[in-house]
Amino acid sequence: MILPFSCVTLALVVGIHFVEAVVISTLGDLVDQPVDFIVVGAGAGGSVIANRLTENLDVSVLLIEAGGSNEGVLDVAVPGLESFLINSAWDWNFTSTPQNAINNRTLTVSRGFILGGTTSINQMVYTRGSSEDYDRWANLTDDEGWSWDNLQKYIRKNERFTPPVDHHNTTGQFDPSVHGFDGIVSVSLQGFPNGIDNRTIEATRELSAEFPYNLDMNSGFQLGIGWVQATIGDGTRSSSATSYLAPSFISRPNLHVLPNTRVLRILETEQSGSFRMVELTQDGASKEVIISAGTIMTPHILMHSGIGDFEELESLGIKMIHHLPSVGKNLTEQPIVRNKWLVNSTATLETIARNDTLLAEVTEEWERRGMGPLVDPPSNGALSHPAPATGNFLTFSTAVSAPTSRGTISLNSSDPLEYPLINFNLFSSTFDRFVVREAYRMTKKFLAAKSWDGYILAPPTNATTDEELDEYINENAATENHPVGTAAMSPKGATYGVVDPDLRIKGLAGLRIVDASVFPRFPAAHTQVPVYIVAERAADLIKETWRI
Ligand SMILES: Cc1cc2nc3c(=O)[nH]c(=O)nc-3n(C[C@H](O)[C@H](O)[C@H](O)COP(=O)(O)OP(=O)(O)OC[C@H]3O[C@@H](n4cnc5c(N)ncnc54)[C@H](O)[C@@H]3O)c2cc1C
Ligand SMILES: *[C@@H]1O[C@H](CO)[C@@H](O)[C@H](O)[C@H]1NC(C)=O
Ligand SMILES: *[C@@H]1O[C@H](CO)[C@@H](O)[C@H](O)[C@H]1NC(C)=O
Ligand SMILES: *[C@@H]1O[C@H](CO)[C@@H](O)[C@H](O)[C@H]1NC(C)=O
Ligand SMILES: *[C@@H]1O[C@H](CO)[C@@H](O)[C@H](O)[C@H]1NC(C)=O
Ligand SMILES: *[C@@H]1O[C@H](CO)[C@@H](O)[C@H](O)[C@H]1NC(C)=O
Ligand SMILES: *[C@@H]1O[C@H](CO)[C@@H](O)[C@H](O)[C@H]1NC(C)=O
Ligand SMILES: *[C@@H]1O[C@H](CO)[C@@H](O)[C@H](O)[C@H]1NC(C)=O
Ligand SMILES: *[C@@H]1O[C@H](CO)[C@@H](O)[C@H](O)[C@H]1NC(C)=O
Ligand SMILES: *[C@@H]1O[C@H](CO)[C@@H](O)[C@H](O)[C@H]1NC(C)=O
Ligand SMILES: *[C@@H]1O[C@H](CO)[C@@H](O)[C@H](O)[C@H]1NC(C)=O
Repeated sequence: MILPFSCVTLALVVGIHFVEAVVISTLGDLVDQPVDFIVVGAGAGGSVIANRLTENLDVSVLLIEAGGSNEGVLDVAVPGLESFLINSAWDWNFTSTPQNAINNRTLTVSRGFILGGTTSINQMVYTRGSSEDYDRWANLTDDEGWSWDNLQKYIRKNERFTPPVDHHNTTGQFDPSVHGFDGIVSVSLQGFPNGIDNRTIEATRELSAEFPYNLDMNSGFQLGIGWVQATIGDGTRSSSATSYLAPSFISRPNLHVLPNTRVLRILETEQSGSFRMVELTQDGASKEVIISAGTIMTPHILMHSGIGDFEELESLGIKMIHHLPSVGKNLTEQPIVRNKWLVNSTATLETIARNDTLLAEVTEEWERRGMGPLVDPPSNGALSHPAPATGNFLTFSTAVSAPTSRGTISLNSSDPLEYPLINFNLFSSTFDRFVVREAYRMTKKFLAAKSWDGYILAPPTNATTDEELDEYINENAATENHPVGTAAMSPKGATYGVVDPDLRIKGLAGLRIVDASVFPRFPAAHTQVPVYIVAERAADLIKETWRI
């Protein structure tokens, strides 16, 4: 059940100014019995945990989410309207610190502030990453459970591959043998033909040595060019809220979802070193608290709870509970440059973006028939950020999917309502810059294929030397909005890292982390699917611990 907003009026984000009075209500007022687990954050990680643990009707879960409901939010449901969600009421609207390597520019950091978390505002691309990267996770954590082969059952539990909404013939566009068809989150190929599809596939034939066609980039081998798969079903966004928190699950009597409520700290129970309480409540959880607040907010909550580097906490005057210097460190983010090539066509998103009548028409087509150009993600963000007043563009983004630069999440003050300082240290590693330069050079080669003749009119930049390209990169680099690693897994007994391979916080009882912050490094992919995979395994680990 979803607890009505009115139950917790004092607890919420909107009540920011009153938060000194944090002990608002006992849990008993909210639910009629104490809960076994409290999960903080209803995003990719938290939704999976809440769903899987409550499969057993004897196990009760309270899922607390800072944002509101996704119910009835059109821009969230319609894939093509995704860009309108950035800096909207459903975004936390974080900003990075000035990034030294790119002219001290600050960058927008979007995170979902809504049930479903960032899966309710993301671009829905479905990628798992490479098998080698998961095998490396197993190696880095000394736990074979994180290897590609051993994670297959969790990949299947998550995925429900469905036909595209236009029901085109998908033979040769994906490999059915590597997909799951009866999981929870809907996944499909694109449902509206795009004018550049044939040119792209044609170019992989002409340039097959350097740009081979990859039938399915989710097979564990992701290199090459192929058809995009996305977390979309029937032309509608499939988020962790519409899937794992669908009405059939949320109606479980043992699952309590509390939106509009922000957790500021977690509290130690009488027994020192044991964390089973969130500050919102007096009763706490009888078994565990699971933090799934994401890569930015999970370390923020930990540090405000006294779990972090003692030297840093002391300088801010925060009560120190547990010295864990890796909290907030090793922040890793994928830099991206969105290269806009001028094209000889008006059949691009700019045409819709510049014409409100047309936008209303295609939105109506989506509402009426669930069809049309808005059934797919608008991968270049063109709908809300139109490029120059004139011109139509092909956006060919270049990104570093396994970057080597490392940054930090740190606190600016002891006030838990203030946002943390987010420093990606983008391009602090020269390797990352090298990759972006070479990637841009490769896009030029790809777009020189014959299939693009008469279509490409002009490049985004005339830069050719390293120095010229660096200038272009410094002006245009952004992030993929895929931060990971601020509460990373490391082997049991390691002197660094935040959680053990079973995701329990090192040296504490009753506290686990299940979100993108635990990644020991990138699986060379977009990040929602890797979080789903981690969370599906985490649910099993928790069930094993408590024999439930
Ligand atoms: C614009 C954008 C595009 C993206 N595109 C893609 C894509 O195409 N494909 C892909 O795979 N990934 C994409 N991602 C990334 C992906 O969505 C995230 O990596 C993933 O959702 C992270 O899951 P998580 O569980 O770690 O955190 P989240 O999904 O962010 O969930 C964290 C939840 O915790 C809540 N929370 C935080 N602090 C508190 C608190 N103090 N109290 C209570 N609740 C709290 C948040 O409101 C949120 O609901 C994109 C992200 C963005 C922003
Ligand atoms: C993000 O910015 C939008 C637009 O200014 C605002 O409506 C929204 O409330 C902000 N989000 C949060 C969590 O404050
Ligand atoms: C960026 O800021 C730093 C510190 O404030 C300064 O030393 C540096 O010169 C600045 N770089 C640029 C390119 O402005
Ligand atoms: C990790 O990889 C290294 C180098 O390849 C190897 O020596 C080591 O045995 C591996 N460790 C595990 C736990 O697999
Ligand atoms: C789909 O296409 C494949 C080959 O391109 C063909 O063999 C198959 O018969 C087609 N299926 C349908 C249902 O048309
Ligand atoms: C792409 O090619 C296929 C056949 O290979 C054809 O049926 C389709 O109409 C073409 N699409 C476009 C947009 O040109
Ligand atoms: C960052 O991660 C690396 C392993 O990738 C580890 O060696 C190092 O100690 C970590 N740094 C901190 C501060 O935790
Ligand atoms: C805007 O779209 C409408 C509906 O398709 C069309 O009739 C109109 O000509 C377009 N306006 C411009 C300026 O292109
Ligand atoms: C950090 O704190 C200082 C001093 O209070 C303030 O001026 C600054 O705006 C804060 N920075 C952020 C990013 O909140
Ligand atoms: C633009 O496309 C048209 C056909 O659609 C073609 O006749 C024309 O030559 C192209 N222009 C350029 C500059 O390639
Ligand atoms: C590239 O050079 C051409 C020819 O000098 C010029 O017209 C064009 O504006 C330049 N493009 C960019 C992006 O600077």
